[in-house]
Amino acid sequence: MAAENERIAQELQESIFKGFSHSLRNEILNSRNIGRIDGPDSYVSVTGICGDTIEMFLNVTDGRISELRFMTDGCGFTIACASYVTRMAVGRTVEGALLIRPENVDKYFGGLPEEHKHCAKLSVMTLEAVIENYRGKSKRSS
Ligand code: FES
Repeated sequence: MAAENERIAQELQESIFKGFSHSLRNEILNSRNIGRIDGPDSYVSVTGICGDTIEMFLNVTDGRISELRFMTDGCGFTIACASYVTRMAVGRTVEGALLIRPENVDKYFGGLPEEHKHCAKLSVMTLEAVIENYRGKSKRSS
């Protein structure tokens, strides 16, 4: 019975992820940096053209992104894109993180379907917004 359940779960997963690249499938199944940060250095909530929202929480230590987390009500593609973007940004300087482009995300996932390219854009836009908000706050407090 357990083996039968496992086979059914495997088939289900195969049909859900049919046509997904290995990197996309892997990012969805092992998403990173989901969650909130209490009292972050910066926080934003950005809604994309599809109506989905990503919230992002940022902490910066000595000019480098030390923590970056997100929450979203978006689809699996959005979760994968935001997970990848946050993974790429952590450890970089805030300027370095701004070099991450939607095209990088799209390329990493082997080309997102046309109707989900905006998920990469929304993830990068949210990263840019949380960094801009951080910069604005640091300017005001200096
Ligand atoms: Fe809206 Fe993914 S479908 S961001």
